[in-house]
Amino acid sequence: MHFTSPQQRSTYTFVFVIVLCGILWTGYSLGTEHHDFGLGSLRRPSTHHRSRPVEKTVQPPGFPYTHAVDVTVPAGVKVIGLVFFGRRELVQVLDCYLKRNLKEYGGLLDEVIWSVNTDKEDDLAYLEELVASNSRYRKHEATKKYEWYIGAWEAVQDPHAIYLKIDDDVVYFEDNAIPALVKRLLENPQYFTVSANIVNNPALSWVHRNMGVYEGYYPEMTQPHPPAPKNSWRASELPSYKGPIEGPEGFAINASTPAPFRGHRWLPIRLPKGETYDMSLSPASLLAYDPFGPGLYNWAAASQTHYSFLHHLEQGDTWRYKFNIWDYDYMRLSINFLAIRGKDVMDVFPFPQKDDESYLVQTRPSELRRRVIIDGTALAVHFAFNNQYTAFEGKGIRWTDALDRYKAYADQMICPGLRRVEIKEVS
Ligand SMILES: *[C@@H]1O[C@H](CO)[C@@H](O)[C@H](O)[C@H]1NC(C)=O
Repeated sequence: MHFTSPQQRSTYTFVFVIVLCGILWTGYSLGTEHHDFGLGSLRRPSTHHRSRPVEKTVQPPGFPYTHAVDVTVPAGVKVIGLVFFGRRELVQVLDCYLKRNLKEYGGLLDEVIWSVNTDKEDDLAYLEELVASNSRYRKHEATKKYEWYIGAWEAVQDPHAIYLKIDDDVVYFEDNAIPALVKRLLENPQYFTVSANIVNNPALSWVHRNMGVYEGYYPEMTQPHPPAPKNSWRASELPSYKGPIEGPEGFAINASTPAPFRGHRWLPIRLPKGETYDMSLSPASLLAYDPFGPGLYNWAAASQTHYSFLHHLEQGDTWRYKFNIWDYDYMRLSINFLAIRGKDVMDVFPFPQKDDESYLVQTRPSELRRRVIIDGTALAVHFAFNNQYTAFEGKGIRWTDALDRYKAYADQMICPGLRRVEIKEVS
């Protein structure tokens, strides 16, 4: 371009800058298409329809979203869910997610085996109803006594199958989770097992916190009047926390204090525009990259984990938890949701070590030099570890209303159209 005068030259420069700004703005707007800022623009996930494939969550920018139809499962290879069955109040939530992933709904699961891991009569009675609710459901009872959880693995009897070992307290997972895990395992014979990207999994909670997905939340210390509505899962409907910014009186972030009352909520810290909450005041600040750290036992950090997740679930931005892969480097991984080949279990069953978890993610894979990988695109939520559950004789995570929220979400978004088995009451 030839400039005749300095004035004309600066006019061209000005026009050029304006056009450039326009291009950049368009790019930015497209890039933030799925973001929501502020409470005024809450995105409600689209309503659920009867049949699959229906994807509630928007395509996460940058990460593959694996649909069941994208996965070529070789002939003769079954995909089997293997749930360690125990507690019906949790299983009634998981049930819908599993049914939604059965073949007849467009999912990958050929069958689901409920491997009995309890002797409680009420739970076992529920299991009978559950198994009767779908022909692809069946139960397995160990034929003899094994140590710890090993008996539940006796159900693995097809060397060619891919098993998805799922805890009974997985209370949410995305439609792409099972397809992503199966695809990753099929395409990577060198991996021993591929785990989901689990929310509330000790070291992963530290990863998620550092990805910036935690929100400020504190427990509500006294019963509200009128009582809080049941069956709401939407974080936006929670009242704001009002109290000292360091947390309410009588509450310690290190979980040295019990939950205030049964069914209490955690309330979001909503500050005036321009002010930000310092996350180092929160329970999540104590999370560590440690499988036995506060991510395992701190019920308060776990509560913050769940209420933060529910916030993102409503916002429609659960993609913020995602990544491609994370290599666990034979560190102990809590096996709440993972894909493993039948043969790899059967080759060593019954395991020579009573701690099945340590054996399957540390001892055996390092013997074989085959890695244990987290698939960051396969998002699942694990409700609670035993320590979070039993803190203060149960006055921990169980005294929050987080489980009711996951149930309400499933009732509204996941279960309609499925033949489910709900429990009458929880003792
Ligand atoms: C937990 O926090 C409380 C309150 O800050 C403190 O008094 C207590 O010593 C802490 N406990 C542990 C085990 O760190």
